[in-house]
Parts: sequence; structure tokens; C-alpha cells
Amino acid sequence: MSTVLVIGASRGIGLEFVRQYAADGARVIGTVRRAEDAARLRELGAKPLLFDVLDEAAVAELGAQLHGETLDIAIYNAGVYGPRTSAVSAPGGLDFDAVMHTNVRAPMQIIPQLASLLAAGGKLAVLSSRMGSISLMSSTSGWLYRVSKAALNSALRAAAIELGTQGIVCIAFHPGWVRTDMGGAGADIDAATSVAGMRRVLASANASQNGKFLNFNGEQLAW
Ligand SMILES: NC(=O)c1ccc[n+]([C@@H]2O[C@H](COP(=O)([O-])OP(=O)(O)OC[C@H]3O[C@@H](n4cnc5c(N)ncnc54)[C@H](OP(=O)(O)O)[C@@H]3O)[C@@H](O)[C@H]2O)c1
Repeated sequence: MSTVLVIGASRGIGLEFVRQYAADGARVIGTVRRAEDAARLRELGAKPLLFDVLDEAAVAELGAQLHGETLDIAIYNAGVYGPRTSAVSAPGGLDFDAVMHTNVRAPMQIIPQLASLLAAGGKLAVLSSRMGSISLMSSTSGWLYRVSKAALNSALRAAAIELGTQGIVCIAFHPGWVRTDMGGAGADIDAATSVAGMRRVLASANASQNGKFLNFNGEQLAW
């Protein structure tokens, strides 16, 4: 039985990862911030862990909390969009700190801890976004979010160099434009389609995918 960790599993894409992996018989640990979300994970057969990626003490303790686990798949899914801007306008300091903390600082604090919990041959995925691609950029919308996901991509790419030597495959995913609270009702695809695609990619991923930026359907994206 494989063990899967999903960080940020209360709703949207993260919750769908939990639903699908648990339905497939995996042992799933999902992190949530509220007790009612923990109850929902239990109903799905998953083990909830109360965890806020902005809580410095909890982040420092995550490795110890998970001590003894051997993870086959770890997914950093937690993310925030921040201000819904459409122009190159200066972000407020609080917005900047919140978005960069959730989308960049926390994964940079958590990935080194996951490295020692992942099995050789294990997979580490971060939920990035095509909006973080510097070379594919053609719009100014969500300027701060774009910058944060570009930074997350850089963090993942460097981690892949090191974790790759342990046989761990690291992937930055664009999940598609997905109908969730963040993606909105008018998005292209539902969470089930997005997650089924990413799970297929993860299931077949090998060293040749390490350090890649991939669409949910496996197509490679330019950084
Ligand atoms: N939807 C899209 O079209 C789309 C496109 C590209 C990339 N993405 C990325 O995919 C990931 C999931 O997106 P989504 O659409 O499912 O978003 P969502 O519906 O807004 O859900 C965001 C998830 O992140 C969690 N989260 C946020 N801040 C957190 C914190 N401080 N600590 C722990 N968990 C936290 C939320 O938990 P709470 O319920 O506790 O807030 C929730 O589970 C994000 O990283 C997003 O940037 C989404």
C-alpha cells in the first residue's frame, strides 16, 4: 500500500487528491486547518493532520510529526492567489507577505523535511501554475501570484537537483484552469479531471521527469 501526503487538503484540488488516492486504496495523510475539514478527510478514509503552513512552529515540527512515515508521494498543494489585479500595480506589503509566505517560503521550509521522509523512487509534486511561467507570460493579471509561482518553480527545480540523487522525482504541475474556489465557476475543467491527469503522470514518472514543469496531462511546459 502506498502512502500519500497532501499538504492543503481541505477543498478544491487538494481534497480531490485525497478522495482519489483514498478511493484507490492508498494510505492518505491530508493536512487541513479546521476541525470540520479534518472530519471530512476521516469520512474519506484519510488521516487528517491539523497544519497551517503559515504557523512557523508547526512547520518546524512537520518532519517530527511525520516521523516513522515513509512517503511514496508528497504533494505541496496549499496556495493563495492574493489580489485579483489586472495591471502592473504595486502590491501591498501584507498581500506580498501572505502570498509569498504561503506559495514560496513555506514550501522551501517543508521540502527539505519531506526529502528525508520520501522513499527512494518517491515523488514530490508542487502545485504551481502556468501563470508562473516566465517564457509563456502574455498577461499582467495576478502579478503577485505569477511572481510567487515563478519563485516556487525555481525552488522546485533546485530541489530536484538534490533530491534526484536520492532517486526522488520532483515535478512542478500546472493543474489546468480548474473549477475551484480559486479557479472560479467558469474554469475549463473540474478537479476530478485535473487530479486524475496528475495522478497518471505521477504514477508513471521516472528520473526523466525529474525537475520538469508539466501540465496536468503530462505535456511539458516552458519555465
Ligand atoms: N484552480 C486553478 O485553476 C489553479 C490553476 C493553477 C494552479 N492552481 C494551484 O493549485 C493549488 C490548489 O488550488 P485550488 O484551485 O484547489 O485552490 P483553493 O480552492 O483556493 O484551495 C486552496 C487550498 O490551499 C489551502 N491553503 C491556503 N493557505 C493555507 C495555509 N496557510 N495553510 C494550509 N493550507 C492552506 C486551502 O486551505 P483552507 O481551506 O484552510 O484555506 C485549500 O485547501 C494552489 O496552489 C493553486 O495556486 C490552481
